[in-house]
Amino acid sequence: MKPIQKPRVKSMHLNDKKRRRIKKTPVIVLVIVLILVIGGVLISNGSEKGSGVEIPLTPTPVEPVTEGATSSYDIDTPESLTAIINKQRPLAAEYVPNDLVVPTIAMRGNISDDEQYVRQATATALETMAQAAANEGIELVLGSGYRSYDLQENLFSSYAEASGIEQANTYSARAGQSEHQTGLAVDLVGSDYECYLEICFEETSTGQWLKEHAHKYGFIIRFLQGKESITGYQYEPWHLRYVGTELATAITQSGLTMEEYFKLVE
Ligand code: DAL
Ligand code: ZN
Repeated sequence: MKPIQKPRVKSMHLNDKKRRRIKKTPVIVLVIVLILVIGGVLISNGSEKGSGVEIPLTPTPVEPVTEGATSSYDIDTPESLTAIINKQRPLAAEYVPNDLVVPTIAMRGNISDDEQYVRQATATALETMAQAAANEGIELVLGSGYRSYDLQENLFSSYAEASGIEQANTYSARAGQSEHQTGLAVDLVGSDYECYLEICFEETSTGQWLKEHAHKYGFIIRFLQGKESITGYQYEPWHLRYVGTELATAITQSGLTMEEYFKLVE
């Protein structure tokens, strides 16, 4: 009997457990679901932090493109309006721009034939700037525009003869190293010729006007004060370089040289 009863009791016991299990099932399921949900959230947060990836709830605003957006400018091609020419980046002896024109602007009395020319883009900007200056009582005079390789070679030789090679190197480019060969650089002065090619030009009304307004017409003062070790030349408030209004404005506002702006120096 006992062997028969035992299984029955056991069976009854099992049935009883089953019933209890059935009663407990919704609670267990609920607990498991809660554990899974809470666990899932914790694991998901943990992996997010662990991976270092932050998922923003709102889109990050796009940073405005300002200084340093330099990749869109071609500084390498000699024909580019934004080409950088300096002691480290010379032009070939045979490079001559193919759109040289004589701008309608007052010229220095004994200006050479070569120097009366500038590239078309420089001429247009120069004429517009000269008109704007004239409206404010300033007459801009072109002292020197395009200079051929040969002319630059002669100039440097005569300067070196006069003040020695080392000194000449601080204010005159060697042949191939002058921006004047690009047709994009101009030396300017007022109609009174006050401080022509001298640092005191900065203090003249013409120098002051150029410092304040030249960028609006696409020109920068190329050789800045305090940046001699970067440009390789003394401060030249009269030497303007055409680069276009957008870049001229950005560079002027930055206070940097072209070399710094385009990260060619440390
Ligand atoms: N005076 C500048 C450096 C030139 O000769 O191009
Ligand atoms: Zn110059």
